Amino acid sequence: MKDDLIILKQYYTAAAKQVPADSFFKQTLDHKFAHSLEVLRQGNDILEHTPELQNQGETFRDLAQKALLFHDVGRFEENVRIFNARRNGTEIAAMSDTYDHGVIGYELMQNRPPYNDMRILFALRWHGKTMEEIYASDMYRQIKDSPQFDDIMQILYLVRDADKLANLYAAKEHDRLRRDLFYAQLPDAILNAPLSAEVKARFLAGKLVLSATLRSFADRILQLLSWIYDFNYPAAAEIFKQERYGEFLLDMLAQYHHNPQDLQQISAALAAKIKR
Ligand SMILES: [Fe+2]
Repeated sequence: MKDDLIILKQYYTAAAKQVPADSFFKQTLDHKFAHSLEVLRQGNDILEHTPELQNQGETFRDLAQKALLFHDVGRFEENVRIFNARRNGTEIAAMSDTYDHGVIGYELMQNRPPYNDMRILFALRWHGKTMEEIYASDMYRQIKDSPQFDDIMQILYLVRDADKLANLYAAKEHDRLRRDLFYAQLPDAILNAPLSAEVKARFLAGKLVLSATLRSFADRILQLLSWIYDFNYPAAAEIFKQERYGEFLLDMLAQYHHNPQDLQQISAALAAKIKR
């Protein structure tokens, strides 16, 4: 793991040199480096408490740890590209692969041994997408018949769960939600707007809240709460429960959404999900 850390740091340092030291971009790069370490820590915790992963052996464990640590390696270059685009007045098209850290990370590592292994690359490319998008992709169709299919999916699931837990940890321990771009760019009216009907309905239907549907900061908070519906490993849901992320997010939501009946319904839905 020591070599992996050095290599990850090289990607971070190369990017950090290209943005001003006192900028929002530099802060984001710093956060993304710390986040990578945190995802490894959370992933190791899930690994340790999941027998089906424990039984997979040493090679699997090494690949899984590399995928955890490098899952956001594309974030560094992505942020440099966004910084340059803003500076040059270039428009950043939504959904563009140029600014998609999953695509960037995949392309960075696909020719770099020992990371050029589909068990790592698939997680880098797809960890941030919905499962529907993944199932619909050409790459998914290609790996389906591979003898490594089960390993690829187990590592993808591990990275997805650990990524969510690391973001919850940063939100709770470092007030990260209010330091991210989404919050920093919001006008006050949106910042203090209540939950949107669509997001609330989706949560109460037991579904993951998608980024494209967010209309207010309250929506963003409920999105994190909806992650409880998306954990793949019971160990991850157990960490969510033990760390009391549900209570933390509900308290924060109550600061932005003031309808007591809605809060009660959301709290009941969460309690029902966690007990199962
Ligand atoms: Fe990511």
